[in-house]
Amino acid sequence: MSMAKSLADFSSTHDIIQKYPREQRYTLAILQDIQRKYSYIPKESLIILSKYLDTPLSKLYSMATFYKALSLKPKGDNIIKICDGTACHIRSSMVIIDEIAKLIHIKPGETTEDGRFSLETVNCLGSCAIAPVIVINETYYGKVTPAMIREILGGYGGLTDGGK
Ligand code: FES
Repeated sequence: MSMAKSLADFSSTHDIIQKYPREQRYTLAILQDIQRKYSYIPKESLIILSKYLDTPLSKLYSMATFYKALSLKPKGDNIIKICDGTACHIRSSMVIIDEIAKLIHIKPGETTEDGRFSLETVNCLGSCAIAPVIVINETYYGKVTPAMIREILGGYGGLTDGGK
């Protein structure tokens, strides 16, 4: 991860930012581009943007916190998406979410402390026939039961307690 990186290492951030005029109304669009690029909003990128737009860093932080599509934390190595569309919901997707929370101690929107998993809920994944569905990275798992979760997650490098 980017702990010791200097601002100069964030050339992609510079590239993104410079596509936009120095006007505050582009702040959200720029933040969305940064999110797309890094899959989260690095602190360094916010500092660069704050200088470019002459906007207080605190304001950028609150925007990044306010908008659900933006995240200030890096995502885990493996992204678990659990479908909470109608078909999956009535087939107990909540029970699956609870089981994941029990095993790796994260709720939707969170990442394990060891950085191995992030959990997200999504709307219909287009596979309602095999509800409830989860997708890990690009792999679909259908008709998932709580009993299957331990084994499924174990396939992604073994289960830990999520770093807690
Ligand atoms: S509602 Fe979950 S795949 Fe359609």
